[in-house]
Amino acid sequence: MDASALKGRRIIVGVGGGIAAYKACELVRELGRAGAEVRVAMTEAARQFVTPLTFQALSGHPVLTDYFDPSQEGNFGHLDLARWAEAFVVAPATADLLARLRAGMANDAVTTSLLAFRGPVVLAPAMNVAMWDNAMTQENVAALLSHKRFTMVGPGAGLLACGDVGEGRLADVPNIVAAVAARFSPGPLAGRRVLLTAGPTREFLDPVRFISNPSTGKMGLALAHAARSQGATVTLVLGPVGAVDRTGLEVVDVVSAEDMAREVLSRVEAADVFIATAAVSDWRPETRAPQKVKKGATPAPENLRLVRTPDVLAEASRRVAGQGHRPLLVGFAAETERVEEHAREKLERKGLDAIVANDVTAPGAGFGTETNRVTVLTRSGARQELQGSKDAVARGILDLLRTLPRPGQGG
Ligand code: CTP
Repeated sequence: MDASALKGRRIIVGVGGGIAAYKACELVRELGRAGAEVRVAMTEAARQFVTPLTFQALSGHPVLTDYFDPSQEGNFGHLDLARWAEAFVVAPATADLLARLRAGMANDAVTTSLLAFRGPVVLAPAMNVAMWDNAMTQENVAALLSHKRFTMVGPGAGLLACGDVGEGRLADVPNIVAAVAARFSPGPLAGRRVLLTAGPTREFLDPVRFISNPSTGKMGLALAHAARSQGATVTLVLGPVGAVDRTGLEVVDVVSAEDMAREVLSRVEAADVFIATAAVSDWRPETRAPQKVKKGATPAPENLRLVRTPDVLAEASRRVAGQGHRPLLVGFAAETERVEEHAREKLERKGLDAIVANDVTAPGAGFGTETNRVTVLTRSGARQELQGSKDAVARGILDLLRTLPRPGQGG
């Protein structure tokens, strides 16, 4: 994290009414330590948990609690606050506060200031897991994040204050500080559009059965988040992988290889980088029965006829081939033997700029692991080995990609 990005920045912390409000005290202090100037606005519910005096002492400024109070409004009211600030953090963003923000309401010190504010907003939600999982909360969050100005950090999973276990904990304070800092530091991939595929595909033979593989999409997600944190606009075309952190990403959910190909081909020309990490099923059943195939079916479906699915990466490569400004194309090669030889063959065959070769039989590599060990090979002949957590490997891959010449510019 580059906390120096916060030096001299003017930040509002909007505190909602939840038990995590006490952690907002530490957030205000840490933002101050990083050199930011902080002012606090509190909802009425927040004042049930922490007193304004605490925040006044920590921020060194009076706290906005009541926009009907003439002394507060006359001094530095909600409009002054909104004009003054360069970033707005809502922590904890409770279910109720998110709902009111989404509705554009202005019925307390936090919502009024936020509605009048035009700059970047960081939401740090915290609530009970059932409230977080509720479709209404999820819709409110999705609607808020559809505005480019809004980003979210957390919530984390773990033991909640109410005794439940699950998602709903306020993100750790250093992560919130980092998320705010990220709004000020453009990052090396600022303005770049990164398109990725991740996860498995499912090729159904009837409504209840499919061909798939154990991919969890972790490496692709790690790359997506690394690119996002370096300032890129990230679109992730994602096969079925269950609940994952979608913060800051545009996620396009797909099921089959054909869906994935369609969604990628409609977007690849606009991308600056396309990274294919998905474990796409190479075959699908030739036909898909409209109803569940019964055991006693005649003729017995013992022989499943398979046909090839589209090669998403190869088709994307053909689509952009020869274009003056085409995206950098990066593939993954999951191999079990003669790893580099097979990977280099794929690099050539699919017309790629780089390929990340992965020996899935090596310990600490492959499907579902937290770590990875890869060798990146580039068209220009560079070779680099990377090892560590999937996040570290993701950053290493992006660092290497940044050194490659942009296609169509002598590369
Ligand atoms: N890929 C893809 N669409 C497919 C198959 C693969 O986009 N239908 C992409 C993967 O995301 C990966 C790269 O192509 O980036 C290599 O995938 P892999 O399955 O290892 O290669 P294949 O071309 O399927 O070759 P083989 O099965 O012979 O190993």
